[in-house]
Amino acid sequence: MGKKESKILILNWKMQPLNLSQALKTTQKLMELCWFDFDIWLAPPTIYFLPLKQKFPQLKIGLQNIYPGKIGAFTGEISTAMAKANRASFVIVGHSERRVYFKENLRIFLAKIKSALDHQLQVIFCFERLNEIAIVKKEIKKSPLLIFAYEPRKAISSFKGQSIEPSKVKKVKNYVQSFFPQNLFLYGGSVTPQNITSFQVDGFLIGLRSFQIKFVSQLINSFYSNSSISGKLSGHSSGS
Ligand code: PGA
Repeated sequence: MGKKESKILILNWKMQPLNLSQALKTTQKLMELCWFDFDIWLAPPTIYFLPLKQKFPQLKIGLQNIYPGKIGAFTGEISTAMAKANRASFVIVGHSERRVYFKENLRIFLAKIKSALDHQLQVIFCFERLNEIAIVKKEIKKSPLLIFAYEPRKAISSFKGQSIEPSKVKKVKNYVQSFFPQNLFLYGGSVTPQNITSFQVDGFLIGLRSFQIKFVSQLINSFYSNSSISGKLSGHSSGS
């Protein structure tokens, strides 16, 4: 996948909801929103991945985490090979919560990215600092399947939830694109209906509140009422 006009909206549900019936209901509601040119990519907890995929085959559904390997004795893990075989649309790597709570580091993320790309899986690499980019450049072969998501830890709602200046995000985007000019660049961390239009990026990663349909619909509404695209927020279009 190369550069494109429509924006990607990744909904990282994190560890919610409690049961499959809620996950199915919420996804059904999501399908009823009009997305215009938004590409909605859903990252539910892994336990809901297959039933959601079966019920909503047209929706891009991915995994919030992955283990770099094929098959073997790794209790509790899901491999990139399994993700590929079960048609995950993408995997998220490097999220701040993986760094803080599960003590994962760049060495682990590089192994995950390599393994995902070897399996032709789209990877969303969430990075926090600029110095990660040069290391990725050195270690990872060029691939359009790699998407960068700038997620400064302090901006994420589960940490400080402090807003980041759009000009700072633009600078980071320029920096990343000086290494990876062909790759998509997303921003994540306390994105709200109030600030979503101020970031010049290819899309957004929405966390905790992405499980609230009302919030997602407000984000989309706000984006389009403040952009040059006009239209009625009704009907439905597929995000796959
Ligand atoms: P937030 O998180 O939208 O809850 O701030 C973003 C993320 O976790 O990627």
